[in-house]
Amino acid sequence: MGRRKIAVRATAFTYRVLLEEGALADLGKSMRLLFPTTKTLLVSDSRVFSLYGDQALKSLKKEMWQVGTFLIRPGERSKTLHTLSRLFDAAVETGLDRNSPIIALGGGVVGDLAGFAASTYMRGVPLVMVPTTLLAQVDSSIGGKVAVNHPRGKNIIGNIYPPRIVLIDPSVLNTLPKRQLRAGLAEVIKYGIIENSSFFRLLEENLDQLIAGDSLFLAEAVERSLQSKARVVEEDEYEKDYRRILNFGHTIGHALETATAYRYYLHGEAVLVGMYAAVKIAVQLNLLERASAGRIISLIEKIGLKKPPAGLTAEKVIDKLRQDKKRRDNNIIFVLPTAIGSAIMVPVSDLQLIREAVELYFKHKTI
Ligand SMILES: NC(=O)c1ccc[n+]([C@@H]2O[C@H](COP(=O)([O-])OP(=O)(O)OC[C@H]3O[C@@H](n4cnc5c(N)ncnc54)[C@H](O)[C@@H]3O)[C@@H](O)[C@H]2O)c1
Repeated sequence: MGRRKIAVRATAFTYRVLLEEGALADLGKSMRLLFPTTKTLLVSDSRVFSLYGDQALKSLKKEMWQVGTFLIRPGERSKTLHTLSRLFDAAVETGLDRNSPIIALGGGVVGDLAGFAASTYMRGVPLVMVPTTLLAQVDSSIGGKVAVNHPRGKNIIGNIYPPRIVLIDPSVLNTLPKRQLRAGLAEVIKYGIIENSSFFRLLEENLDQLIAGDSLFLAEAVERSLQSKARVVEEDEYEKDYRRILNFGHTIGHALETATAYRYYLHGEAVLVGMYAAVKIAVQLNLLERASAGRIISLIEKIGLKKPPAGLTAEKVIDKLRQDKKRRDNNIIFVLPTAIGSAIMVPVSDLQLIREAVELYFKHKTI
């Protein structure tokens, strides 16, 4: 695979995404070309660091970077103000000044945390994203959303702060657990469904190879996904309207995550269920033809819907939806597909319709 580049236009500047086998080994050099400074802080989680930390540090030191490191425990529970405060301590101890970049080496948790730190440390320092999960490579590393959680809610303290560069090494996906890979694939098919019918067809032909972790197909899927996301965020960086189509699957997905206290589903797994239910709702509202719905459902089934946990009922999911921030007046806002490759936002007031769609998931074959 050769080097592939995508330019993403943000309000503040245009940044590049480099997708290349070996991008991690070139981290120091790629940063040297962009930043005339000497100090940097490498933020990672302990699992990713144990796999790729040496390679990253070696590459940085070769280019004379003085590197501080800050490691978090893997997982969502590290995305807090408390961790952020310790990250700032590390930044001060490393001697970062207002031009020193912060590097996020890891999945979406590291990216969101380090990104939010970069957006506020000394009123903003450059951010370098080196995403290592499929979800982070196709979604969270571009678009600029950065955040930490509050005990009362996810991503409540956040910002829109684009990275200066995104370096994607597809070979790091070789060590990603299969469950994480499948969860990331939910976000990949999302782009085909809402935005790009030719990508959808490509996924119909090649999803088996992607699930098997085939590197060439994965690199292609990452590139096509990034192009999709870039098109959407370039049009509406601050999520005034159009960018919300990226929330396809998130209305019910989010309700599932909160109903299970974020402990059962991976984000992508919950979104996959949400996409399934949204397709069922779209058909009932005559927005989507059955034939197209069937094609979408068969991709979803290939990735595999996760079995609901014991004790969870459709009614509990509906209860969470009633409290959702996507609710407006008496309506719950859904992103619904209208064809393969296009979606719209629709306020839905009929709770029975939503309940039936969720119940279909409870009855569906799961993994
Ligand atoms: N900013 C955005 O636009 C955006 C979009 C979607 C999701 N998110 C956020 O992303 C987070 C979820 O991200 P995630 O799914 O990447 O989870 P994650 O960052 O928790 O990573 C998942 C697990 O995979 C491990 N891991 C990472 N890379 C690996 C590799 N190459 N090999 C082996 N193990 C590896 C990590 O140590 C971790 O245990 C959530 O906090 C969510 O809110 C942000």
